[in-house]
Amino acid sequence: MHKVIYDTDPGVDDAMALLFLHRHPEIDLLGITTVFGNASVEMTTRNALFLKREWNIAAPVSKGAGVTIDHAREERAWPAMVHGDNGLGNIAVPEMVDVPVDPRPAHRFIIDTVRAHPGEVRLVAVGRMTNLALALKEDPEIAMLVKDVVIMGGNFYVPGNVSPVAEANIHGDPEAADIVMTAPWKVVVIGLDVTSITTMSRSYLGGMAAKGDGAVKLLDALSQHYIDFYSHSVEDGMMVHDSCACVYVVAPELFSSITGAVRVVCGGIADGQTIVRPDGRRFPPGDWDGLPSQVVCTGIESEKVIDLIRDTLLAA
Ligand code: BDR
Ligand code: CA
Repeated sequence: MHKVIYDTDPGVDDAMALLFLHRHPEIDLLGITTVFGNASVEMTTRNALFLKREWNIAAPVSKGAGVTIDHAREERAWPAMVHGDNGLGNIAVPEMVDVPVDPRPAHRFIIDTVRAHPGEVRLVAVGRMTNLALALKEDPEIAMLVKDVVIMGGNFYVPGNVSPVAEANIHGDPEAADIVMTAPWKVVVIGLDVTSITTMSRSYLGGMAAKGDGAVKLLDALSQHYIDFYSHSVEDGMMVHDSCACVYVVAPELFSSITGAVRVVCGGIADGQTIVRPDGRRFPPGDWDGLPSQVVCTGIESEKVIDLIRDTLLAA
């Protein structure tokens, strides 16, 4: 069993990924930690609690960061046009959900859970990397105790989605992402290079909803606004960014990758750009020396990934 902490900003594609983690038989979901991003952290936490209740998820929800790690950074507006005003495609979600939240802040929950299962926990982070960076700052030793960190974020050989060079999760808190990429733990980076070519059509999802239970029908309903948004780049469908990171946990063979040190540009016109220095290439000594080598995914078997998501969601 893969012990997973899911760090997320639900978020429509975050919701699909959550249902995947909940339903996959080889995943033991230890906790859901929330972060600002697709909406405010109040809203993403409420959404996580709502999905926990609707989908009968046992894992606790812990509320995380509401602002960037460097508080001086200007707040970037919530992308309501992508995920709806409420972060879940404008479906009816109660203002308050009567499910208790874990008393610990997300970064503390991460530290405690990693320490309770040394060497076993896989952190799957699909929002701003702020909670992970805060956990590292408070307890740097957890880098040695985590099994790996699988993130959805960044772009290397394709353009960004919030600037010509940056992807939303990284651009939303570049300093936090740079801390995470350069820490001495194993990071697997699932960026736009692979997620932007992994799409699910409206009719495919509708077909799943027709066969599936109430959870899949809810997912279909909350995805409609997001699919409408994607009409500029996907033909009647959506990129399933966050699910790609979750699929990696159980089926890494569906991805190809390179390794190398990864840095994030913090500031200027390339703010939030992710850069890899591929292993094996020689450069003069400099800032990159001594950085850990991370795994950067550059290829994906998209059809198989989409089918695995379908089979997992319909297995209930
Ligand atoms: C990422 O940004 C968010 O909109 C999605 O949930 C995903 O995590 C894609 O750039
Ligand atoms: Ca997300």
